[in-house]
Amino acid sequence: MSTVNYSEKIPNNVNLGEDRTLQRALEGWQPNFVNWWDDVGPDGSTAYEVYLRTAVSVDPQGWAQFGHVKMRDYRWGIFLNPGDANREIHFGDHKGEKAWQDVPGEHRANLRRIIVTQGDTEPASVEQQRHLGLTAPSMYDLRNLYQINVEEGRHLWAMVYLLHKHFGRDGREEAEALLQRQSGDQDNPRILGAFNEKTPDWLAFFMFTYFTDRDGKFQLSALAESAFDPLARTTKFMLTEEAHHMFVGESGVSRVLQRTAQVMNELKTDDPQKVRAAGAIDLGTIQRYLNFHYSVTIDLFGADQSSNAAIFYSSGLKGRYEEGKRTDDHVLKGQTYKVLEVVNGQLVEKDVPMLNALNEVLRDDFIKDSVAGVQRWNKVLEKAGIPTRLTVPHKAFNRQIGALAGIKMSPDGRVVNEAEWAAKKNEWLPTPDDFAFVASLMGRVVDPGKFAGWIAPPVMGINRQPVDFEYVRFG
Ligand SMILES: [Fe+2]
Ligand SMILES: [Fe+2]
Repeated sequence: MSTVNYSEKIPNNVNLGEDRTLQRALEGWQPNFVNWWDDVGPDGSTAYEVYLRTAVSVDPQGWAQFGHVKMRDYRWGIFLNPGDANREIHFGDHKGEKAWQDVPGEHRANLRRIIVTQGDTEPASVEQQRHLGLTAPSMYDLRNLYQINVEEGRHLWAMVYLLHKHFGRDGREEAEALLQRQSGDQDNPRILGAFNEKTPDWLAFFMFTYFTDRDGKFQLSALAESAFDPLARTTKFMLTEEAHHMFVGESGVSRVLQRTAQVMNELKTDDPQKVRAAGAIDLGTIQRYLNFHYSVTIDLFGADQSSNAAIFYSSGLKGRYEEGKRTDDHVLKGQTYKVLEVVNGQLVEKDVPMLNALNEVLRDDFIKDSVAGVQRWNKVLEKAGIPTRLTVPHKAFNRQIGALAGIKMSPDGRVVNEAEWAAKKNEWLPTPDDFAFVASLMGRVVDPGKFAGWIAPPVMGINRQPVDFEYVRFG
């Protein structure tokens, strides 16, 4: 095994050079990580030099250094946001006590589970996206895909660091298991449902990075409040990278809409078949993709009522989104929250103890944030003079987890029977025909400055480079 030069190969601000135990653990893990990257990371990309940003420190000059690198040689770094030695726990039963620098014994199992669940999503998304490079609509988009892939790889490192540093032998075993589970695998799948779904094409990729990376934003934000200070500081830094992933999704869908609207205007038609025949993606297909990704993503927040969620909050492990900005008592005992419940086949609102409803609280925060971006997508249609609008489906639409899994709901919020569901499903969720059509548009366009016909070019390039910059050198 080759030795690793820690200050060079693994940029870090966690004193890796002086921590022999951590060095040994990472030294054992790193070759397996690289094997994992080779096996299930971006397909056929080994020789490419990609214009990537690399974090080499957490300060404003260091967190985004740009240059052409081979992804295999990407400097996966370990960074914690700067700490505050006097930081206090600001919610739950330990409110006002000092934040923890080590894992308290009584919270060890829960913290490990939280870190493993978050960590598992990071390599999962790389696996889900591994074939997309073969059908990139442009060199610019190819680069963005790879940027997201290496950063999800770095997020895995961030969680593995916590496991190695704070969880001893159990942590090392969990770190290995993170490389063994595989997205969509029959026998050893990733932990959460949405991370076992396929990301078969670039419309799915943009929807995934818009919605599912946004789930990441909300989960990381809740963990950034944690009483376990190393987790709070690690996730805060991960959030700085997550913003770009959501930008790729939001701008990607915007550009698809822009192109579709242009074709509709040129042909003076809203007939989906004519739009398709002209090589653009019809709005109905885009809406069905949206419905699918939105509904599987809101399932990620878990059951609407959960005693685990209450325990995680009260014990200080996981806060709410923007906990520090809220003006309540940050303990939440005796408070209630409205959740939806199915009674006699109908949805009714019900007040439940807020502590048990914290998954729902986080889901509702996510929904607000998601809707805002969908409204920005609608501006694209509005500007082009197209009357159709995209909408997010009802919260109970197509749910598999929690109380709402018990009913069938139309996107506009009507409870429907099995027969109506079966009859309308093809209008509400992507069909095999939709997937086949979108797949038929996916061809590799990678000459600098050239774009596939179903997507408009971006307004500007990456890091102030021109749109036709050579973002990927194929070697
Ligand atoms: Fe991530
Ligand atoms: Fe992400």
